[in-house]
Amino acid sequence: MSFVDDLREKAAKKMKTIVLPEAADERMLKAAGQICANGIASIILLGNAETISENLGTLGLSTENLTVIDPELSTYRLEFSRHYFESRKHKGMTESEAEKIMGDPLFFGAMLVQKGMADGMVAGAVNSTGNVLRAGFQIVGTAAGSNIVSSCFVMVKPEWEFGENGMIVFGDCAVNPQPNAEQLAEIAIDTASTARALCGFEPKVAMLSYSTLGSGSGDDVDKVIEATRLVKEKAPNLMVDGPLQLDAALVPSVGSSKAPDSPVAGQANVVIFPDLDAGNIGYKLVQRLANAEAVGPVLQGMAKGVNDLSRGCSADDIVNVVAITALQCK
Ligand code: ACO
Repeated sequence: MSFVDDLREKAAKKMKTIVLPEAADERMLKAAGQICANGIASIILLGNAETISENLGTLGLSTENLTVIDPELSTYRLEFSRHYFESRKHKGMTESEAEKIMGDPLFFGAMLVQKGMADGMVAGAVNSTGNVLRAGFQIVGTAAGSNIVSSCFVMVKPEWEFGENGMIVFGDCAVNPQPNAEQLAEIAIDTASTARALCGFEPKVAMLSYSTLGSGSGDDVDKVIEATRLVKEKAPNLMVDGPLQLDAALVPSVGSSKAPDSPVAGQANVVIFPDLDAGNIGYKLVQRLANAEAVGPVLQGMAKGVNDLSRGCSADDIVNVVAITALQCK
């Protein structure tokens, strides 16, 4: 069974409720139809009920098994606005601002999750990553013990001879522009956990750099050295090494020549990029040039299941991220 079919099947067994706030987008409606037809999750669509029903009809989809809530008209709006105002008034939020913001499906959807009326939320087909993340940060917040939310992609190409079972997990490709050493260490540990949970393999984590174990020097290399030290300190059982160049991390012959004593070089299945420029460009290069499937971004470190999409996503990508979100829900 393929990786994504496995995700969908596992999600179906949990039957979580996922809110999709961008119901005006055709891909979201197609994905919702596919999710309901295959029993992957229960779906709540946010928006005008009449318009959604019309658009579903045009696509030949029924409203059966779909819940539609209009944030503009919802009886929850007042309660949600009060909750949001109370939690943000120390930041200067006023009651009228809070009420206006709760008309925004992203914030309303995040509040459905926070209140336990939905298990998770998936958005970002229309909204920017920044907007989806801000709704998540402000309303759902970070998980206990987490300092930052970050992300990873499971890059899948079954015929790959690198990584494990045709998969390599890339972090962080979507959230933190310039992580410091402490943040990079947390990203590595969280990405390893996500890889273990979703891919089912024991992570071997390469902390990427333009230097392999001292072949080059500079502030950026020092950051990766310090982050690797912190990962080893905080997660002593995790297989991690760095700094490693990408070829030394993935290619056995290069790994054994450049880092012969490394437990990870040449066999990494999780790679951690030093910053968001590298991570975001890196995953898109592999997706487009190697024609690999990019499953994600998967957010990690959020208190509840909130996930972002790339605006270039397909309906199929949305179904995959909904399945992952369902699997992340407790
Ligand atoms: N983890 C947890 N909380 C965070 C994080 C984080 N990584 N970043 C910001 N926050 C918190 C802030 O502390 C703040 O909390 P507060 O309001 O309670 O004080 C809140 O989130 C909002 O902070 P802002 O200042 O509004 O947000 P900021 O300007 O820091 O932006 C953001 C955060 C949106 C994640 C920004 O770093 C960003 O835009 N990142 C890049 C996103 C992106 O464009 N990715 C590439 C495209 S994605 C793709 O291709 C798949």
